[in-house]
Amino acid sequence: MKGEGWIEFSYSVETFEGLEHHRARAYHLRLPNGSVLLVGRDIEERRRFAALIRRTLYFALGFTILLGLVGGLLMSRNFLHRIDSITAASRSIMAGDLSQRVPVSGSGDELDQLSVSLNQMLDQIERLMAGMKEISSNVAHDLRTPLTRLRSRVEAALRTGEPAAQKAALEKTIEEADSLLATFNALLSIARTEAGQVLEALKPVDLRELVTDLAELFAPMAEELGGSLELSANDTVMVKADRQLLAQALSNLLDNALKYGVAPGRNSPEIALSLKHSADEAIIAVADRGPGIPDKDRGRVTERFVRLDRARTLPGSGLGLSLAQAIARLHNGKLLLKDNAPGLLVELVLPRIGAAR
Ligand SMILES: Nc1ncnc2c1ncn2[C@@H]1O[C@H](COP(=O)(O)OP(=O)(O)OP(=O)(O)O)[C@@H](O)[C@H]1O
Ligand SMILES: [Mg+2]
Repeated sequence: MKGEGWIEFSYSVETFEGLEHHRARAYHLRLPNGSVLLVGRDIEERRRFAALIRRTLYFALGFTILLGLVGGLLMSRNFLHRIDSITAASRSIMAGDLSQRVPVSGSGDELDQLSVSLNQMLDQIERLMAGMKEISSNVAHDLRTPLTRLRSRVEAALRTGEPAAQKAALEKTIEEADSLLATFNALLSIARTEAGQVLEALKPVDLRELVTDLAELFAPMAEELGGSLELSANDTVMVKADRQLLAQALSNLLDNALKYGVAPGRNSPEIALSLKHSADEAIIAVADRGPGIPDKDRGRVTERFVRLDRARTLPGSGLGLSLAQAIARLHNGKLLLKDNAPGLLVELVLPRIGAAR
């Protein structure tokens, strides 16, 4: 042993369990008298402790990596599986099965929220498609008859060669073409309203002003027929609405009251137009004293092209109430048909904004 410095060496220790080899670390130096001084300590304990820490760290690291791998694998498999089922659902929807829906796992996570939104979108598309189908079949069915009639009248007039008859036929043709155009326009308005296209145009509307305007428009028509239109609107009631559409819906109701609200045995309509409200609803009522609509028919008269037998002799295409109902729904409201005993009472109920002044 030369010079001085640190050394590490093994030595044997007598313990209870027998002879054990321990490591030791020591500093040695040569004293001036020639002897060697060795100062050291047993570092076996420290060595074992360091080994234990190292082992634990390696184990924890290994465990974390394993957990990450397995977790990641499971999560991505689950995620991919769900994406796969969304892809499968969208494929079969593209293939024409609009009733298919994207599966929702119920976990409420982002993917689930996406599925719910997709399903809501599909519901809306399905409803619109069903509406389109219904409209086109209705149009095909109900417009064919008047068009055929129009055609045969023109044909007959051509054949007679008599100017007076031809003139009369032309006039009748214009009249029928106008009514066909009105039907087309009503159908388009219903389709547009049901698709919710005008929703962004909603503004605060003063219903008292609206019903007053309509009463001014329709009262002379009622009086011309020898009848009357009474208005009762005391409070200002505000709703969020498209004024034009509301006016259209109410005009349809008033037009019906003028046409059908004639009491049997009389020939003049007596109409009551009123505006009422509750805490959160505005109610516009159009009531007449005519024969009314029987209980069993009240549900179906709001469907497109439905006209009751009694009405067949009067002009109309059976779209007025459908449009009024579509407009009510667009405004989150409803159209209620009630018995006015006698007569019909139609209520247009809308959610109101603000309080009455
Ligand atoms: N006030 C009423 N009294 C009695 N029956 C009514 C009244 N309003 C509507 N009806 C019945 O409901 C049917 C449907 O009404 P709707 O307004 O939808 O169509 P329409 O008046 O026949 O035609 P359109 O309004 O398209 O010109 C009418 O044909 C009629 O039979
Ligand atoms: Mg009508």
